[in-house]
Amino acid sequence: NSVRPRVFVTRDMPQPAIDRLKEFAYVDLWPAFPAPEKHELLYHVSQADALLCMLSDPIDEEVMAAGKKLRVIANYAVGYDNIDVAAATRRNIAVTNTPDVLTETTADMAFTLLMAAARNLIAADRFTRDGFWIAWHPLVLLGHDVSGATLGIVGLGRIGQAVARRARGFGMRILYTSRHRNPAAEAELGVEYCSLEELLQQSDYVSLHTPLMPETHHLIGAKELQLMKPTAILINTSRGNVVDQEALTAALQDGTIGGAGLDVFKEEPISPDDPLLELSNVVVAPHIGSATIETRTKMGMMAAENIKAVLEGRRPPNLVNK
Ligand code: DGY
Repeated sequence: NSVRPRVFVTRDMPQPAIDRLKEFAYVDLWPAFPAPEKHELLYHVSQADALLCMLSDPIDEEVMAAGKKLRVIANYAVGYDNIDVAAATRRNIAVTNTPDVLTETTADMAFTLLMAAARNLIAADRFTRDGFWIAWHPLVLLGHDVSGATLGIVGLGRIGQAVARRARGFGMRILYTSRHRNPAAEAELGVEYCSLEELLQQSDYVSLHTPLMPETHHLIGAKELQLMKPTAILINTSRGNVVDQEALTAALQDGTIGGAGLDVFKEEPISPDDPLLELSNVVVAPHIGSATIETRTKMGMMAAENIKAVLEGRRPPNLVNK
């Protein structure tokens, strides 16, 4: 009777994923709503053969060193900038992510933010509830058209392309910039390649879809925001640090750009006292790009399959180590 492998899961998740893990492992499920503190993470990882963690759990060399038996780190996200993958590779620990299953859901969120920011939806909701609707008026809560406007997509990967498909339906002109030009996507989606500078200058809406890497850290800073139209709206569903948040706050305060729709922040959770949250031209959400029951379930199942594969000595379907 061999001992079951042990999986530390750093947050509760949809039940089908937990049930799947229980079929082949002992599940050590973190019981609280907030994340485990570092010392708690170290303790639980020290017992574990596998770690199923969130994008908000920093998994560094120290965590891996604590995981004497650790064989796989399955991130419950497509982005894995929270994990020191090079350190994991040196230690022969597999790192996996959850691509594809969240592509459409995250693109929906980018479009939700875009529409909400373009049409002042959050302000309109408050206005209605707070009793300010005393008459229909031609000048109340005017936004900007989405239809016929130009959308700039920064990073034409899976999610960027899914956003482009939505934008086509809205009759937008679509520009993109990316590490590599993608002629197939240009033909299929009718997107036009250009430099980041041109994209920023010409777009009414700019949506960010790059992973966070040293090359994309603060990709959008004061200089880039200056290039944007004063009416332009910046949408970020990627990672907070792709944008210089102080520069963005200043640009929104002084009218350098028109607005923003943000699902991600420099520090998460963002402090309720952050000056960004005082601005009425910003729509915010607490990193919920993939937050649907269907997608969060699929992400959990995918993480479970990745863990199972490694524990059985197979190559996991979504390995990210180089
Ligand atoms: C990801 O997957 O990287 C998102 O940020 C959370 O789903």
